[in-house]
Amino acid sequence: MVFALALIPRPRNTVYAFEILEGLDEYRIRDTPPQPVFAPCIALAVAIVAPISPLAAHRRSRTRRMGFEPEELAVDSPAIVVEKASCNESATSAHEEETANWRPLFRHPCEFGPAMFGDVLVNLIQNPNINSSWLFRADILYDSAEPQECAAPSEARDTFTFNTPNPSFVGFGLQRCIVRRLIPRNTLRDNPLDQTCLIYESVPSSEGDVASVEKALVVYLPHVSVASEMPFYHPIVRGIAFLHEWDAAESRGCISISYLFFSQEDRSVVRLTRTALRLLEVIHKHGKGRLEGYQKRVHHDQLLPQARVQDTYTRLKQKYARGLIESWAESTDPEKHVFEDLCIAAFLVELWADMYGRGPFPGFVDIGCGNGLLVYILNQEGFVGWGFDARSRKSWATYNTKLDTPAGEEDTLRELVLLPPPVSRNGLSRLSGEDFNENRIHDGRFPKGTFIISNHADELTPWTPIIAAISECPFIAIPCCSHNLAGERYRAPAPKDKTKADSAYSSLVAWVEGIATDCGWDVEQEMLRIPSTRNAALIGRKRSANASDPDIQAIVEQYGGTAGYLESVIKLAASTASESRH
Ligand SMILES: C[S@@+](CC[C@H](N)C(=O)[O-])C[C@H]1O[C@@H](n2cnc3c(N)ncnc32)[C@H](O)[C@@H]1O
Repeated sequence: MVFALALIPRPRNTVYAFEILEGLDEYRIRDTPPQPVFAPCIALAVAIVAPISPLAAHRRSRTRRMGFEPEELAVDSPAIVVEKASCNESATSAHEEETANWRPLFRHPCEFGPAMFGDVLVNLIQNPNINSSWLFRADILYDSAEPQECAAPSEARDTFTFNTPNPSFVGFGLQRCIVRRLIPRNTLRDNPLDQTCLIYESVPSSEGDVASVEKALVVYLPHVSVASEMPFYHPIVRGIAFLHEWDAAESRGCISISYLFFSQEDRSVVRLTRTALRLLEVIHKHGKGRLEGYQKRVHHDQLLPQARVQDTYTRLKQKYARGLIESWAESTDPEKHVFEDLCIAAFLVELWADMYGRGPFPGFVDIGCGNGLLVYILNQEGFVGWGFDARSRKSWATYNTKLDTPAGEEDTLRELVLLPPPVSRNGLSRLSGEDFNENRIHDGRFPKGTFIISNHADELTPWTPIIAAISECPFIAIPCCSHNLAGERYRAPAPKDKTKADSAYSSLVAWVEGIATDCGWDVEQEMLRIPSTRNAALIGRKRSANASDPDIQAIVEQYGGTAGYLESVIKLAASTASESRH
């Protein structure tokens, strides 16, 4: 049976391990989810090789990691949240005529109060990708702080069609109604799903009654009337309810999750139970994090709206991903490179739409372009530009195209070594030998306005804002490995801004940002949604108000100088020359 599992093919076309995961501000490699057709096989295999149930195994591994051990409520436990029958009386569809039976699944103690619970839930409503790696985001279609119980949200009928009234719950009053559209990462596999999210607060049962326990309830109702219509990324249930109960005198409370099943038998479906466990765990983790003072350090979508970049990414992915992966010529991982470069291309396409609109595009150059994929994708999308690298790659045979330049037709991918102007040429002829061809040197001067791309360009990263200032070109630099201006490995000083992390990466980003600022750039920063932890992008497209003509030589000296650069660049050129001879 284990052998049979090993032969199960990985489903193609939809699931790529390296697509982005944004949950909890970290990037992880996504588990391939169980495909329905294989599910019985997997379950049987697990049952044979493991003496414990799949759910128990899952819980054991998670609880070990997270210290999250909820109480699992028995199948016949009484309901924790009770929907009033009165709204259902006006219902017309068959299942709504029955009394809604919300089944509790898990409960866990918590030390965070109602306000934090509310913040966490609103954040989760706005960012469903935290819970599901299948989702890109939620588009909010409707948000009302004066919702009506027993009535469907009416004002936004033109954006969604869902006539089910907002339910009423015993002991609660409805405070807010949000209708969101869940946007899946892969629209070829699944459609978006609209969902009503209702936020309730407990109300005293009679006048003068002071409740000792404060309660807050959040209910999700997918706009789906039959189980078979539910998209893969959503649990197959009619509703999900999260309850927070809080004893203010004791500063203690608990959270629980209940489902409104399509059918009572669904209570025993392991996958649904596992999802409930995970959903409650995320609420607990986020609430606990807030209580401990966790502050979000990573802020996405600072420059461009999430939806625009993601929609463009989806379009590019559908157009190019499969073909690029299947024809991959390098020995590196195709998925990682293809998805990463498609994400960066999507960001640039949208950034350039803002910068240049319908006006002429000034052209781009990708310095240290590696395999040339980013150049190729951008060229295919109609953007004129080229790239160069000290070392040519096999893929260039496919990705190289021709570009009309004032000097005639040129390749879009060229084997060149950058020797930036502030580096002294003294000794060039003395140092160069038979392996070094001076024609392969590029001086880093580009036509004014050319957009400079420096993506994980290693030694060239700190040079990017400098050569951009010299040539008066806007730029994007996405730092990766840390090098100084002499091309040596370098640990940059920790950021002066103490709200920033002091990791080697964060230090490099802050250091390069410092160079850019000193060169007169009004630097903007974006954390790209790419499948890499090296995802900070520094963008220089505006000169700062007080930027005059920067003293480049002084800046280069201030940041450590260039001693040794000439030698290393000659070595790089010589080594690539001898590589290409072999
Ligand atoms: C980590 S790779 C990244 C390649 C590509 N941008 C990517 O993201 O896949 C860094 C590249 O910078 C190139 N490079 C470093 N210094 C260079 C220089 N002085 N001139 C040209 N290319 C250089 C290296 O050859 C290498 O291919």
